[in-house]
Amino acid sequence: MITAGPTYEPIDTVRGVTNQSSGKMGYAVAQAAVEAGAEVTLVSGATVLATPAGVERVDVTTARDMHKAVMARAKQADVFISVAAVADYYPVDPQPHKIKRGDGNLKLELALNPDILGEVAALPKGPFCVGFAAETEDLNANAQAKRKKKRIPLLAANLAQETFGKDTNALTLFDDEGVHELPLAPKIVLARQLIEHIAKMLPRR
Ligand code: C5P
Repeated sequence: MITAGPTYEPIDTVRGVTNQSSGKMGYAVAQAAVEAGAEVTLVSGATVLATPAGVERVDVTTARDMHKAVMARAKQADVFISVAAVADYYPVDPQPHKIKRGDGNLKLELALNPDILGEVAALPKGPFCVGFAAETEDLNANAQAKRKKKRIPLLAANLAQETFGKDTNALTLFDDEGVHELPLAPKIVLARQLIEHIAKMLPRR
């Protein structure tokens, strides 16, 4: 199971809070996993991308939708790769009409979204979990800290400015063995390398 794309948290009927994410990296990972022979479910936020052939796609909007879709399927998954850019917060009181412009400031109260990857990683007998981290600085320190905090065996980190909206990327993989650099390449090439790395880490069946 793979998540991809952004989540969108409505403020009113026409506005929302979201993250920058084209979905390209997650869709490339889904395609690479199918090529490697996996049965793939892609839980996807809104993107303009076509579903890779052979992938079952579940469309979601908010992080809470994504959480529900993922938790319903997590026990059946062998591997969970969380590529989605999940919004950390959602507006508490979305308005059922377009908010009119007023004279002063507008206050928006935000509540914390569930940590989807964290919850899946904490499941007893849950899938092998892989996280992604888009950082803007201190890639290594932030990524290592994130892997420890989420208690996941593998984390793929990239620099936001290198990847957003692009067809290429560079990844740094962090696992118990150390750091593995996957240099600048098309996202599908990196996705295949990532899947190969994951396959090597899985117990033989
Ligand atoms: O946003 P952040 O860099 O902390 O995300 C790290 C990892 O956690 C990513 O794999 C992302 O998909 C996942 N995540 C999640 N639920 C959240 C926030 C992030 O699953 N609420």
